[in-house]
Amino acid sequence: MPAPQPRPAISAMARYQPNLNPPARGRIIRLSANEGALGPSPAAIRALEEVTSRLHHYPEEDPSALADAIAAQLGLDAQRMVFGCGSDELILALCLAYLSPGDEAIHTEYGFIMYPVSIRVAGGEPVVAPDSGYRVDVDAILERVTPRTRMVFLANPNNPTGSYIGRGELERLHRGLPEDVLLVIDAAYAEYVSRNDYASGADLVENSENVVMLRTFSKIYALAGLRLGWAYAPQVAANAMHVVKQPFGANRAAVAAGIAAVNDHEFRRRSVAHNETWQPWTAQRLAGLGLTVLPSVTNFLMVRFPDEPGRTAAEAGPWLEQRGVLVRGMAGYGAPDFLRMSIGTETEMQAVVESIAEFLSA
Ligand SMILES: Cc1ncc(COP(=O)(O)O)c(C=O)c1O
Repeated sequence: MPAPQPRPAISAMARYQPNLNPPARGRIIRLSANEGALGPSPAAIRALEEVTSRLHHYPEEDPSALADAIAAQLGLDAQRMVFGCGSDELILALCLAYLSPGDEAIHTEYGFIMYPVSIRVAGGEPVVAPDSGYRVDVDAILERVTPRTRMVFLANPNNPTGSYIGRGELERLHRGLPEDVLLVIDAAYAEYVSRNDYASGADLVENSENVVMLRTFSKIYALAGLRLGWAYAPQVAANAMHVVKQPFGANRAAVAAGIAAVNDHEFRRRSVAHNETWQPWTAQRLAGLGLTVLPSVTNFLMVRFPDEPGRTAAEAGPWLEQRGVLVRGMAGYGAPDFLRMSIGTETEMQAVVESIAEFLSA
């Protein structure tokens, strides 16, 4: 008898490749996952220590104190929030809730890799809208809408390119979509953006029935290891996510640390200020080495390496890894000439720039 087989769509897929396995020894500079540079807020660490005596209790299904803290900080409605085990869980929950086999969901060419993965897992068909010059192209998205389109995924700002579209373009995208298509605006890096024309999408959620905004504690709050994300959604989408996702995806430790992190305004300010210093510094130094650095409003940079043998991105990645510097290869995103690196501490960025200079001159 043949062994049981997963669905063909699942068998055809490869598992996520995190590229986070450091060499066994020595200094590790980990810039491969767009994590917060400064480590978690001290208040979040204290909150974690305090929660340890209550870990035998399941968490709340709707962590209301966390919703209230976010609502107070951002002026949002706590009733519209859904929490999950990272925003990854919520991306999948949305796909499972909205896609039937054969339905199409659009994502952008260099959009976050978990969109096509989750679309396929749910049985849907990912449809790629090409970027234009490594930027999201709203017209390309709208041109790909068909009667089978159920969802559109947009990371704004985008991972891995680091670019964003402004409020006007975001609203034009929303206006151009049929009302029965769900627009998912993933604002994982919103806190880093200091542009006047940037909008996270929260007001589009409040003023329509077909927009969901996603946020995470993995980036500015530097709590990626705890896995905590949230969605801001119309009631119908929130109800659907509650049905599909695991009930206790946002765990008790993550919620306790999340509340403390949201309330630590000083930590958030410090993290933004750090990024505003070291992101342009790094971009400038790498450009000075002759590399092309895509303009970024986030805590990471996408950097193009030359095609000359000995100086390519494909060679730079392993070379850096050998020296304890972990960056992200972009071949999986269809951009093999690029490496993506997050902004770490001052010492880390100086060391990385030195290592890359050494690689290029070797
Ligand atoms: C655009 C985007 N969305 C979502 C995520 C996942 O976030 P989380 O850690 O909350 O699952 C990431 C992580 O890199 C991301 O870049």
